[in-house]
Amino acid sequence: MERLQKVIAQSGITSRRKAEKLIVDGKVAVNGEIITELGTKVSPDDKVEVEGVPVTKEEPVYFLLYKPRGVISSVKDDKNRKIVTDYLPEVEQRVFPIGRLDYDTSGILLLTNDGDFANLLMHPKHEIEKVYIAKTKGIPLREDLSRFKKGIKSEGELLKASHVKTLSVDKKKHTAIIQVTLHEGKNRQVRRMFEEIGFPVDKLKRERYGFLDLHGMNAGETRELTPHEVKQLRQLAEKNVK
Ligand code: URA
Repeated sequence: MERLQKVIAQSGITSRRKAEKLIVDGKVAVNGEIITELGTKVSPDDKVEVEGVPVTKEEPVYFLLYKPRGVISSVKDDKNRKIVTDYLPEVEQRVFPIGRLDYDTSGILLLTNDGDFANLLMHPKHEIEKVYIAKTKGIPLREDLSRFKKGIKSEGELLKASHVKTLSVDKKKHTAIIQVTLHEGKNRQVRRMFEEIGFPVDKLKRERYGFLDLHGMNAGETRELTPHEVKQLRQLAEKNVK
């Protein structure tokens, strides 16, 4: 027996949180009867419908995309810009990105139809390590960057990096390449941190997500995660619980 919201999330229709809202809103029927109770458990023999459409369990799929710059981390865009799912092979499943990278940020982005897996990885308490490479306008000093580790206040939030390192500087062009490691993923976090210290980010790339990197890949390329990688990511997230 599984909880109703889990069964809906596993079908790839939506996240578990949105599934809960569908249930409470009276959009979900089990064996023809509307159910609004969140704890309800169902067996594989029960017929679950969302807004009259039968729910079936999709085969889970997991992709790693080297997202190029100039692409929206979304499954649709009303302005007709490129979206991350444009770069995936044709699959039947409704695949969505796990978290997001800004339009102008490139790098590792995971995509799946497995709502539970996505929630597990995205949950703030699981703190998957992410490594970014930023090119800054201007050359921050060590003292400027050391503020990242203490935490920087921005729009009422405290933004922290666990590690920061200047990789190179170009004194003529007045730019620097800086590696920043985060265990959190707040909106536009890296760009906001650099804005706060007065050195805006010109280019940003996520080069590592947990143990996954972009080795051997070009921007716009996708590969499926191996079952072993999926298992390791799950273990990594579960181990990181604070
Ligand atoms: N930090 C940012 O500023 N942008 C991203 O896309 C990811 C992290």
